[in-house]
Amino acid sequence: MYDYDLLVVGSANADLVIGVERRPEPGETVLGSDLAVHPGGKGANQAVAAARLGARTALLARVGDDVYGRLLLDSQRAAGVDTVGVLVGKAPTGVALITVDPSGDNSIVVSPGANGHLAPEDVRAAGSLFHASRVVSAQLEIPLETVVEVVRSLAPDSRFVLNPSPPRPLPREVLAACDPLIVNEHEAKVLLGDAGAGGEPAHRARLLLAKGPRSVVVTLGAQGALVADGRGVGRIDPVTVDAVDTTGAGDAFTAALCWGLGRGVPLQEAAAYAARVGAVAVTRRGAQESFPTAAEVDAR
Ligand code: RIB
Repeated sequence: MYDYDLLVVGSANADLVIGVERRPEPGETVLGSDLAVHPGGKGANQAVAAARLGARTALLARVGDDVYGRLLLDSQRAAGVDTVGVLVGKAPTGVALITVDPSGDNSIVVSPGANGHLAPEDVRAAGSLFHASRVVSAQLEIPLETVVEVVRSLAPDSRFVLNPSPPRPLPREVLAACDPLIVNEHEAKVLLGDAGAGGEPAHRARLLLAKGPRSVVVTLGAQGALVADGRGVGRIDPVTVDAVDTTGAGDAFTAALCWGLGRGVPLQEAAAYAARVGAVAVTRRGAQESFPTAAEVDAR
């Protein structure tokens, strides 16, 4: 019996968000909306999204001893996330500079700050959290060597889910642990290099699977998603909504998928539910503020 449905190991950022009519070209200045400051970061977002759906969730992360760090801790606790694994200090809290255009698309620049100091020894020191967690998820806004240590720290029966964002080449040891590896089209192309440049998304899903993960999910935005495993490639239908802000929607998708897997739901079904959760998230502004409860998902 596990104490947590999900342990998220990852980043926590203060999101500094400005709405713009269009994103600036190199060398150009544009005027935007008033600045909004939200709790964010791919790890912290996943933890809040899962907890809001009802998952017993813990976060292993690092924030600075500053006002943004306190904003992030407050937001986790308000959502019901166990913050026993959130470490404080060594650098300022990570910051994400985000512009959102009228279509809801965003551009993000992250200053990792304290996220860059979440170290392998922090993972080793949190061994009890790993042994208590049915599913463990990670992303790549923390050092890659820390993600490697996460994979080495998994309990024998737990399941590992990785969203390699922002993408970079991954060691075979990490790829082999993923069940699933969750990527969007951009991330798939980066991981595949030249091999992924042409062809259909389903072809890329198969190529990624051949790199070692036990399963792969490719999210396709308004086109839905693909699920690939040893039985083949399946399609997840899109959920059509009017998007106002896509920030954090991928994190909500990953969290919902983890929550489903933790309850023993088959991957294809968990991904279909995750697509519904992500669809609700894009109809609302911000990242963590946009994540629905299970009742809100059911009501749509
Ligand atoms: O996935 C969205 C997140 O990416 C934002 O909350 C921002 O902090 C960046 O990490």
